[in-house]
Amino acid sequence: MRKYISSTLIVAAVITCFAISCSKANEESLNDGNTCDTTAVRYSTDIVNILSNNCYECHGAGSTAGSGGIDLSTYSNLKVHADAGHLVAVVTHAPGYPAMPYGRPKLDNCSINKITAWVNQGAKNN
Ligand code: HEC
Repeated sequence: MRKYISSTLIVAAVITCFAISCSKANEESLNDGNTCDTTAVRYSTDIVNILSNNCYECHGAGSTAGSGGIDLSTYSNLKVHADAGHLVAVVTHAPGYPAMPYGRPKLDNCSINKITAWVNQGAKNN
């Protein structure tokens, strides 16, 4: 009986340790602020990646009036919205602007931080 209780305790302890280490790992992977590098954001990689995954579907070449007739798939078009402040306003859900992506959850913090950093770095075609 004694043996049964102590082995049960060991199993419980192992499960508890495992559960704690798992939840720690989840916390780290959710905390994207730690791994988000915004020092030198590039249009050709970072920005195009974010927009192609989240925006081109509605704002691609030949966008219709349904998405405001706005094509963000070329640098020169995007630059106009970046310089006017609309790009950062829509992704940060600033009051007075339509929240983007339209009808969907906000982008993850790292994507928003990268877009903001790219605009602050001069919205370069880099
Ligand atoms: C499901 C379709 C859809 C997606 C996805 C989408 N948009 Fe839009 N977008 C729209 C529509 C519709 C409008 C016009 C909204 C309005 O005028 O009320 C718009 C308007 C805009 C505008 C103009 C805002 C203004 O009035 O100044 C910008 C800039 C914009 N979107 C950027 C983005 C960006 C950046 C993304 C990706 C993060 C994105 N959109 C994703 C549908 C979409």
